[in-house]
Amino acid sequence: MGSTALAGHRVVLGVGGGIAAYKSVELLRLLTGAGAEVECVLTEAACRFVAPLTFTALSGRAARTELFGSDDPIPHTRLGQWADLIVIAPATADLMARLAVGLADDLLTNTVLASRAPVLVAAAMHTEMWERPTTGRNVARLREDGVTVLDPESGPLAGGDVGRGRMAEPAVIMSACRGLLSRSGSLAGTSLLVTAGGTREPIDPVRYVGNRSSGRMGHAIAAIAAARGADVTLVTASPLPAGPGVARIQVETAAEMADATLTRFDDIDAVVMSAAIADFRPVDPAGTKLKKESGPPLITLEPTVDVLAEMGRRKRAQVLVGFAAETTDVAANGSAKVRAKNLDLLVANLVGVEDSGFGAETNRAYLCYPGDRVEDLGLLGKDELAGLICDRLADALTGSR
Ligand SMILES: Cc1cc2nc3c(=O)[nH]c(=O)nc-3n(C[C@H](O)[C@H](O)[C@H](O)COP(=O)(O)O)c2cc1C
Repeated sequence: MGSTALAGHRVVLGVGGGIAAYKSVELLRLLTGAGAEVECVLTEAACRFVAPLTFTALSGRAARTELFGSDDPIPHTRLGQWADLIVIAPATADLMARLAVGLADDLLTNTVLASRAPVLVAAAMHTEMWERPTTGRNVARLREDGVTVLDPESGPLAGGDVGRGRMAEPAVIMSACRGLLSRSGSLAGTSLLVTAGGTREPIDPVRYVGNRSSGRMGHAIAAIAAARGADVTLVTASPLPAGPGVARIQVETAAEMADATLTRFDDIDAVVMSAAIADFRPVDPAGTKLKKESGPPLITLEPTVDVLAEMGRRKRAQVLVGFAAETTDVAANGSAKVRAKNLDLLVANLVGVEDSGFGAETNRAYLCYPGDRVEDLGLLGKDELAGLICDRLADALTGSR
């Protein structure tokens, strides 16, 4: 699972014509490794330093170099509107000058102008070029216009010189990308509670009644929502890691899950309940291990709190998203649950087949809305589905504000 802040995000990586262009190959690797979709745009000068083929091979998408004459009829608006983030590394003195005055004389500068996405530039040049007043003015102008400029670092430069001018390391640029995406994200300012995993209800200190939920879906939603700026609390019964920026509360039983979520419910904007919370639990778990020699125990079960229904009863302005695992009539059962539990959205998953549900890489899902509207999403990767749920959540929050 690409559970970092960049997972599922669309990034245009612009490469300028400087020596540090070789480092943008490593940056591309880190971006794709973090789960971002990346389109690369190289300036004409960049192609003197590095080959577009390298970027094509590593991104899995044809690197772009031309404004005119490519197979893409209007490449700059497509790229600009597609991007969640534009990162230019290295940014030459020339590129920053062109960006500062709004020139649009190649594909990269046109893409920046045709985009509403945040822009991050990592400057790299010789010390003299960096210290030139014209460069300083351009950097100041870019910052005034909301562009994030990463100053170059000091160290050895091309040609044996030493001084300020080296491009920030790719790991530093990555961390700036994460920060920018979370501040500008569609869920910025939202407090979100996500539940994940399958609860375990003790029979005795060793054995439990459990279910097959892995927690992958909920953890993916928590990570992507945090990357999009939400303030996320993840109440989880799963051992999986939580994404960066996610506050984790570990629970085991349905009662702990109910307590951790219902006590927070009044103070949050939205809940995504993807945990598989046990419907029943043993009435009286044994305090010591049940002995095999005593024969099979008779275990009496009692219902647990229906957390989702309780939230549906209590909800004021909160957006409530539920999950349902169904083996048949997924859409119809999902719509019935939306009505019964007063939900804003229900993600109904098909389970019991190989490519969907518990533990699978993919899910066959339907989104069920109030008024019996159903959106059939077909077969999706769990990260992709998590991204879509976050999109719909952002829409629902806009409607409820
Ligand atoms: C060997 C060499 C290295 C260069 N390195 C840099 C550099 O690190 N930073 C920079 O701003 N310009 C550098 N330049 C100059 C740019 O390549 C030149 O300004 C070019 O027009 C930039 O085009 P672009 O901004 O469209 O990529 C270098 C030029 C050469 C010949």
